[in-house]
Amino acid sequence: MNISVSLEQVEQKYQQSYKLINDALGNCFTKNTPESLYEPARYILKGKGKRIRPFFTLLAAEAVCGSSANAIHTALAIEILHNFTLVHDDIMDQADLRHGRPTVHVKWDATAAILSGDMMIAFAYECALQTKTSRHDELVHILNEANITICEGQAIDMELEQRKDATIDDYLGMIAKKTGRLISAALEAGGIVGNATPEQLAKLITFGEKIGRAFQVQDDYLDIMAEGGKSGKVPGGDVINGKKTYLLLRSLDLTNGKEREMLQSVINNKGTVPERVPEIRAIYEQCGVLDEARQLINSDTEAALSALDSLPYAEGREYLKGFALKLMKRDF
Ligand code: IPE
Ligand code: IPE
Ligand code: MG
Ligand code: MG
Ligand code: MG
Repeated sequence: MNISVSLEQVEQKYQQSYKLINDALGNCFTKNTPESLYEPARYILKGKGKRIRPFFTLLAAEAVCGSSANAIHTALAIEILHNFTLVHDDIMDQADLRHGRPTVHVKWDATAAILSGDMMIAFAYECALQTKTSRHDELVHILNEANITICEGQAIDMELEQRKDATIDDYLGMIAKKTGRLISAALEAGGIVGNATPEQLAKLITFGEKIGRAFQVQDDYLDIMAEGGKSGKVPGGDVINGKKTYLLLRSLDLTNGKEREMLQSVINNKGTVPERVPEIRAIYEQCGVLDEARQLINSDTEAALSALDSLPYAEGREYLKGFALKLMKRDF
């Protein structure tokens, strides 16, 4: 796939936007009290989040109208909404670490994590409404619909943890909701701010859906395969918790004998002890599931790129493609 910007140019633009977004996030949640409400929100936003969704929002606006200047408040809304989902997700996944730091419910407690997350949702809508656009109703609708879809995806994720008969199709449906929709909504919302036509919005949504799927499969991959603690999470946390990931479900089809029994025991016991993680990693390495995951990530990324053809402004469009390629190679 040919794109007309270099990966160095993509990296430069990403770094510029990263700084812009982080500076703006630093000006959110400035109230001091109640401390147990606002401090967790500041804390999660000070983590090493990649800011990929707000970057997509800015680029989507640029791809349809030539400028991202009006899209920053919408980008912030998306990122704050995303961080709310992470705070609650870590309670549900009993995750102790995020970006190498204690998660909010560990550093404070579940009450603070629930309440701060709730407050962040409302705050996100206030941000979105500061956007200069005549299409606020559409923006709010997208945020609502994405929010409800994420909750559905997270509920299905939890239900799959309890099920012994989950399939790859169950998994793919679940990740489209828990991860794909917010990424596609980030792009759709950016398109709205740039006053996109319905046809342009459809292209941005398709791009987001494909990238979202690749992104979650890679998240599953990095959960157990990231080197040198680069994920900033507990290595193998998904296996320890018995999460139905792409790797676990698909490797059941690719193994037999003792290996398959080992994987099945993770499912039957709804997880395993941390000491068993290296054995599971070795099975993944041997059974071919890692190559399959990479193939899926690569082909979804290619499909995402071709969905963008004919968006009017090359600057945004080509950087969207370039950033998708950069994400495909991420190791963090
Ligand atoms: C984590 O998203 C949750 C998933 C959907 C996999 P990110 O990997 O984008 O998290 P941050 O924003 O960089 O922390
Ligand atoms: C996250 O999926 C989806 C949402 C936060 C909605 P994960 O549970 O895999 O995300 P991480 O790995 O904890 O970031
Ligand atoms: Mg989760
Ligand atoms: Mg999680
Ligand atoms: Mg994960």
